[in-house]
Amino acid sequence: MQIETKKKILVIGSSNTDMTVKTPTLPRPGETLIGGEFKMGAGGKGANQAVAAKRLGGEVSFVCKVGRDVFGDNSIAGYLKEGLDVSRILRSDKPSGVALIMVDGNGENCISVASGANSDITEADIDSVADMITSASLLVLQLEMPTPCVLKAAKLAYEAGVKVLLNPAPACPLPDELFQYIFLMTPNQTESEFFTGIPVHDEASAAEAAAVLRGRGVKDIIMTMGSKGSMAFTEEGNFFTPAHKVQAVDTTAAGDTFCGGLAVAIVEGKSLREAAQFATAASALTVQKMGAQESIPYRSEIK
Ligand code: RIB
Repeated sequence: MQIETKKKILVIGSSNTDMTVKTPTLPRPGETLIGGEFKMGAGGKGANQAVAAKRLGGEVSFVCKVGRDVFGDNSIAGYLKEGLDVSRILRSDKPSGVALIMVDGNGENCISVASGANSDITEADIDSVADMITSASLLVLQLEMPTPCVLKAAKLAYEAGVKVLLNPAPACPLPDELFQYIFLMTPNQTESEFFTGIPVHDEASAAEAAAVLRGRGVKDIIMTMGSKGSMAFTEEGNFFTPAHKVQAVDTTAAGDTFCGGLAVAIVEGKSLREAAQFATAASALTVQKMGAQESIPYRSEIK
């Protein structure tokens, strides 16, 4: 008898509480602007990607570290409500992560993060979930936890034959060793420039930056280009996926939804081209609502 094994996505990363105010323009240093209503909601790149993958149809486990405070308790309650497996969630004596977000009239944002408990994730914590890493179908990572932990998790996955999707956000210096463990990297234009030194403004410069990343060992790259769409440089070939033309209200978590969508489509065995189309449709829905996790769509909403 064949026992069907579910294709599990494991996300390891940050959990934040987001505090957002929308203003017509982003304030300049020293400037005070009167904005709209204040919104508090669940966020964090790791958590957003886990929630996106779950709502878009994945079987998802999420490992993060939150404080022993009300924000941490609320986050865990939210993840349980989403149906995420958070049985191995970690607690810290540091306060839970908080992000202050300003959104302008075009939906563009500025984010400051107080990492708190996210910065307290240790290599020993990663070791403690090694069994989850090696038994996953896909490991999804971002850069809102200490880099040695990202490296350790990626290496454990790679050595066990588990694919690693790295969303390299927010950009920070990475050890050379990490790149060879990455199956799929999803930098935006700014992050691409950070990692390669090549300003990305068109297809040619995107290809140049992708070649540098692939030269370091990354297998496939899907570069997000904001409202234009994304450029993929993969073993399946290079292709452009145009973004849907929508009125952006708040772009927060659009990139996270894109990564969650890619993760789901990949474990379902779709090609990277199909995965990019699915993820693009999902993130087009996210930008049309305020907030991070509040704005992430469900699979039934994707046409
Ligand atoms: O990618 C968006 C996220 O970045 C926000 O939810 C915020 O918490 C920061 O981590």
